[in-house]
This record gives sequence, C-alpha cells and structure tokens, in this order.
Amino acid sequence: MKVFEEVDDLAIEIASQALLDGNLVAFPTETVYGLGADAVNTSAVNRMYESKGRPKDHPVIIHISSIEMLSKWAVDIPKSARILANQFWPGPLTIILKKSDLASDLITGGQKTVAIRIPNHPIALELLKRFEEKGGFGVVAPSANRFGAVSPTRAKHVLNELDSYLVESDVLLDGGNCEIGIESTIIFINDNDFKILRPGFISAKKIIQTLQMSNIWISESDKHHQLSVSGNLPNHYKPKAKVEINAIAHPGDGFIALKNIQTPNLAIRLGEPKDDLEFAHSLYSNLREADQLNLDRVVVNYQSFSPLGIAILDRLVRAASR
Ligand code: TXA
Ligand code: MG
Repeated sequence: MKVFEEVDDLAIEIASQALLDGNLVAFPTETVYGLGADAVNTSAVNRMYESKGRPKDHPVIIHISSIEMLSKWAVDIPKSARILANQFWPGPLTIILKKSDLASDLITGGQKTVAIRIPNHPIALELLKRFEEKGGFGVVAPSANRFGAVSPTRAKHVLNELDSYLVESDVLLDGGNCEIGIESTIIFINDNDFKILRPGFISAKKIIQTLQMSNIWISESDKHHQLSVSGNLPNHYKPKAKVEINAIAHPGDGFIALKNIQTPNLAIRLGEPKDDLEFAHSLYSNLREADQLNLDRVVVNYQSFSPLGIAILDRLVRAASR
C-alpha cells in the first residue's frame, strides 16, 4: 500500500484517482480511519469486504462531500433528515434513509435502507470532493480495521492491521490522530420513526433539541426492526486482551482511567485522559497498546452519565463482552 505521510494536493489527486480506478484508500475522518472504496464499483467494494474480513451482509456507510449528493443515494428524504444534515454535517452523524436504485445490495446488505454521512475532516472532505469532481458518487468506508477489532484512530494502526491484506495500488493517507476517536452516531429515520442505532459524539439530547422532539428511542439491539448493524454485534470493538470494566486491577494488568484516579499497585497505566472527550479520543489507541504489550487483561475504570459517556460505555461494554 502506498502511504502518504504528508497529504498535499498531489496526494489527494493520486488517492481520488486510485478510488476511481477501483483501488482502496484508507483515510482519516474526525471519528476513526475509514477504508474507502468507490461505492458503485462492485469489485472494489468486494475487495474492501475481503480485506476487512467482513461478512457481506453487514452494510457500510456511504461518505459524500456535500448535501447535494444525498438525493443520489436516498429517496423520500424526510424533512427531519434534512434538518439534521444541515445542523450536523459535516460531522459525526450517520443517517439511515430509504435507498435509491444507485445503492446496491452489496453496500446495504440487501436492506431497503442506506447509511450516509459527510465526515468533518479536511483530508476526507478534499478526497471526496475531488472524487466527485471526477465523476464519483460516493465512497463506502467502514472503519479501517479487521472485522470485530478495535477501530483505528492513527495511520499506523491501519498500517499494522491491514497492510498484509492490501496491495501496492491501494493508498493510505496519514492525517494524524482522529479527533473524536469513536465512530459516528447512527440514526435511523423513517417518516416519524426515529431511532439511534449507535450512540456517538452527537448525542440523543442534541438530536432531540434540533428536531424539537420530546424523546427518542435509543436502540439496544437492532433485532426489533431487523436492521443489520455490525457495530451492534455484542463482541465488536475488541482487543485481544480481556477487557474488564470497573474491576480490581492486579499487578501486570493494563489500566485505563481518568487522570485523577491512581494506578493500582503494579498495574500498567495505558491511559489517563483528563475528561470524557479525551477518554473517547484515546480509548482505542490505549486498547491497542495493551495488545502491543501482550497484556492478558485490561481494567478500564470508567463511570459517566454524560451524553458522550453513554457512547464510550457502549464501546467498553462491547469490548468487554465474551
Ligand atoms: O465514524 C464512522 O461512522 C466510521 C468512519 C470511517 O466514517 N465508519 C464506521 O463504519 O464506523 P463501520 O462500517 O465500521 O460501521 C458502520 C455501521 C455498521 O454498524 C453498519 O451495520 C451500520 O453502520 N449500517 C450501515 N448501513 C446500515 C443500514 N442500512 N441500516 C442499519 N445500519 C447500517
Ligand atoms: Mg467498524
């Protein structure tokens, strides 16, 4: 895979052309790194699934650079979806809508809906814009990790994990550390049916305020509406080390907690974020470090009822599930 450590105009040109030519391009977003493929190129999308080891019935998110592209991918777009898009895009919100004919079964997992977002990262936006200027419609980009593993928040995570599954003509754009660090909030909208399928930085509270609703359903499981959300598999976002939440740390265990909490005797401090924002930002790289150090067990000490805390706990519970 070709790695661009400095992403200048030439790198964007090469990467956008690589996408159009059917290659894979890993790129930074404000949430996590994505592994991009041209959303209308069947063989590119197939290779994206294969290199992630992801089952084909797990749908992917289409990334676009402007709201105008929304109507290419979705039909019967409710007013509420437009309000949310105007308010939060570019940003860490993925909206699930009724799909257009352009969205193939391969990217929707055979469902009648499609997931779309505009990421808020200069490199991602430039890449998508250039790709669309060249005639592209959108880029599917799941997190650039092997299926079920921890999402990458740095270019080197992508390189370590996917290099052996990618080929010479694929590209990695290094945009440094992802600012938010956990995946986008996913909201399902159908007429007056709203559901948060994956909590994230854009909280239920912000969505409720924006839409002036009284309440919103936060889905614990997708079964009820038969939506397939791979992030909803209980054992997603897992490092190799066994993760335990709010357990007692023993000597040799990894330990992650807010800065004001002391490291237990002989535990190995992997992270000491100062607040929820930093917790989200550093969580995945701290978990990856546990694997790098070959630790058997990581204790994460965390409690929070803040909106972002709900998203962090969602990832922790999945990382800790067996
Ligand atoms: O922050 C993010 O969303 C990152 C960056 C790269 O944009 N992407 C990401 O993609 O997290 P991925 O593939 O790891 O997670 C996408 C989630 C999956 O849980 C998938 O099941 C869900 O979106 N999804 C996609 N299409 C869907 C649909 N039509 N209905 C319900 N869920 C859908
Ligand atoms: Mg993922």
